Amino acid sequence: VLVRKQGLDSHTILYGVFGDPVRHSKSPVMLNRAFDVAGINAAYGAFHILPGTLKDAVAGIRALGFRGVNVTVPHKLEVMSYLDEIDEGARVIGAVNTVVNEGGRLIGYNTDGIGYIRSLKEETGIELKGRKVLMIGAGGAARGVGYALAQEGAEHIYIANRTKEKALDLADALGGYGSISGHGLDEIHELAGDAALIVNNTLVGMYPNVDEVPMDISLIREDHVVSDLIYNPLETRLLREAREKQGATVHSGLGMFIYQGAYAFEYWTGQPAPVEAMRKAVLDSFG
Ligand code: ATR
Repeated sequence: VLVRKQGLDSHTILYGVFGDPVRHSKSPVMLNRAFDVAGINAAYGAFHILPGTLKDAVAGIRALGFRGVNVTVPHKLEVMSYLDEIDEGARVIGAVNTVVNEGGRLIGYNTDGIGYIRSLKEETGIELKGRKVLMIGAGGAARGVGYALAQEGAEHIYIANRTKEKALDLADALGGYGSISGHGLDEIHELAGDAALIVNNTLVGMYPNVDEVPMDISLIREDHVVSDLIYNPLETRLLREAREKQGATVHSGLGMFIYQGAYAFEYWTGQPAPVEAMRKAVLDSFG
């Protein structure tokens, strides 16, 4: 077990996560471990930022000289109004999860989508160029993932959602970045066969509703990669049955969480993130 060798001192570089709620966040455990392993004198805290106080909290980043923060639910959209510059990806996705303080200038990024892609590729080896993808869900998480998948050169992305209109809207919003269409959940049986990758972007199957699945498992084949953004539980029923019953390759949402943090670390420090140590810190904290 690594212990913090350095206590806080007058050189410690400060970071944190802004959220409401925030006490469940695994980001402090993950990023403090990353700073320790990299030998960086830094500290990362969890800040419970209540509605209506986000603007002051962002002013605090500048005033106190924090190098950066992560931003989580429900502040990812509102924070954009208080920043000096917003990266193109974050603008298209419509959400910022990482802020970098460049000498008082605050720049917003979104590392969720690119984090998802990096973990998907490293953990499954899938090549996305020229392949078709079926995304289930069209909420906030799906926006980041859909944008990043389109950037990877997927041949076509089907977005299927319970509320079909939201799938059509998201396909429209991301249409400039690739070939994308919106569908209802009732069309999944016609779309799954064509897809190399199936991604669950919905909350279906998340704790405590661990028996729910977002699609008919019998549509999954051995040559599918099935991916779930959920990481509580670490393996959803969708992934377990895709793997055990259908023989598919599966990819859990934990990787997306680890790599969105890894990109944030890299934007802040300019150093490669110690990804395996970060993963271990998060897994250890689950007990
Ligand atoms: P997030 O930011 O995690 O993506 P969100 O923006 O609230 O959360 O989106 C939740 C997604 O899960 C949506 O696609 C939602 O479908 P609707 O747009 O029809 O609401 C989907 N979802 C949530 N509960 C669902 C359920 N029981 N069955 C199917 N889809 C569900």
